Amino acid sequence: MAAPALRPETRRWNRDDWIRGYVSLTEERDEWIDDIEGALPRELRGTLYRNGPGRLERGGQSVQHPFDGDGMICAFDFTGEGRVRFRNRYVRTAGFVAEEKAGRFLQRGVFGTQKPGGWLANAFDLKAKNIANTNVAYSPRKLLALWEGGKPYALDPQTLDTIGEDDLGGALAGDESFAAHPRYDRRTGRMVNFSVQPGLSSTINLYELDADFTVLSRHRREAPGFAFIHDFALTDDYAVFFQNPVTVNPFPYWLGFRGAAECLVFQPNRPTKVWLFPRNGGPMRVYETDACFVFHHVNAHVEGDQLTVDSIAYETFPALEPGTMYRHVEIEKIAASQLFRFVINLTTGETRRERLLERAVEFPSIHPARVGLPRRWAFMAMADAPTGNAPLQGVLAHDAWTGETQSYSFAPKGYVGEPVFVPTPGATEENAGHVLQMVFDSERGASDLAIFDARQVARGPVARLRLPVTVPYGLHGAFVRRDD
Ligand code: CO
Repeated sequence: MAAPALRPETRRWNRDDWIRGYVSLTEERDEWIDDIEGALPRELRGTLYRNGPGRLERGGQSVQHPFDGDGMICAFDFTGEGRVRFRNRYVRTAGFVAEEKAGRFLQRGVFGTQKPGGWLANAFDLKAKNIANTNVAYSPRKLLALWEGGKPYALDPQTLDTIGEDDLGGALAGDESFAAHPRYDRRTGRMVNFSVQPGLSSTINLYELDADFTVLSRHRREAPGFAFIHDFALTDDYAVFFQNPVTVNPFPYWLGFRGAAECLVFQPNRPTKVWLFPRNGGPMRVYETDACFVFHHVNAHVEGDQLTVDSIAYETFPALEPGTMYRHVEIEKIAASQLFRFVINLTTGETRRERLLERAVEFPSIHPARVGLPRRWAFMAMADAPTGNAPLQGVLAHDAWTGETQSYSFAPKGYVGEPVFVPTPGATEENAGHVLQMVFDSERGASDLAIFDARQVARGPVARLRLPVTVPYGLHGAFVRRDD
């Protein structure tokens, strides 16, 4: 069901304002934030690490898609005494170092001419420049900058100095990659993550790691057909993968006529496959649901023989027009990403899917102690308008018990990224904590970090840290408590 597009005069966003948030931050800063509106919650003690593309052009050339930009880590250190230190550092990947020296894109042919829409292309071209720009994973000795097309890069978590590409103690052999969406077992704290080697038959590797990133187990399974998988959901016994119904026609790509992402073809009449990959290494089971495209999952759990998965899904693949520069993409014509619930009977294979929200949302976040259990609350970035597709401009809290939502919009001048939920230590209420979200304030021409009381997001931020610079729209991050 396509939502009717809002008339332009009712929209509370502006393309020029929004696009101004896509700007390189070439300097690396280290400073105390002086401009703080509201009161910093004292219980926030620790560091918010965020990753995202920091550099979107070189030598006068723009990347074709912002997801192609070099990874830049932002760190916000909360002292707990009302002060916050901000730093941003680029990940010194081999490609970044070489291109800094050259002052231009050295792999421009790959990213620009052959690979417009490289965000998908990267997922199955392991020879692409590792840009380490998607997410972070923390251990006391190493901060990993993750990008699904290659190996992680390790950084010093204190100084943010790049240590180098990291093969996890030899566990990532050859050109094996490591996805950018680790999940954490609430019982053990172990990290679970995966990698995909796509092909006519695709290989899924599943890894479990301890708190020092030592690989404890690794299992490998085959999924027939091409697989583009960005994220997964974790239950106590399974890793759950959605195999989006896309095929790839590689010939134009191999011949260099088109970007790989432009060779992906959504198959609306084919099912989305749901793979259950047993964490103990048993054989995978597969289920089917109606065609949809998923980047991010909210959570999953199994009760009896019933699997429930909440995901952010597009009813059709958000394809890019071949050769279209991202600044010109007409977002309102692309299918919106919406919150869905998938319920699968593991015995009969019967599947149900229900749209939980009409509003366009992305970047879900939940309480870490609810991973693999029924959750009540989920926090996500949202579009301002209740229907249709539009840039993300606010935060939304979804209550799975009542179906109700609370939200706050920064429209018309604010544009947002992922909200990170940070629970209050020791609290029993699932939504006791704070939500941290970057906002590009197009009126001021710089970025803020907004901090919400997670129980009252509709009241707006309790504090807003005003940065002196624009941090280009980022991807994913994590909060690390100082006593963690
Ligand atoms: Co992601």
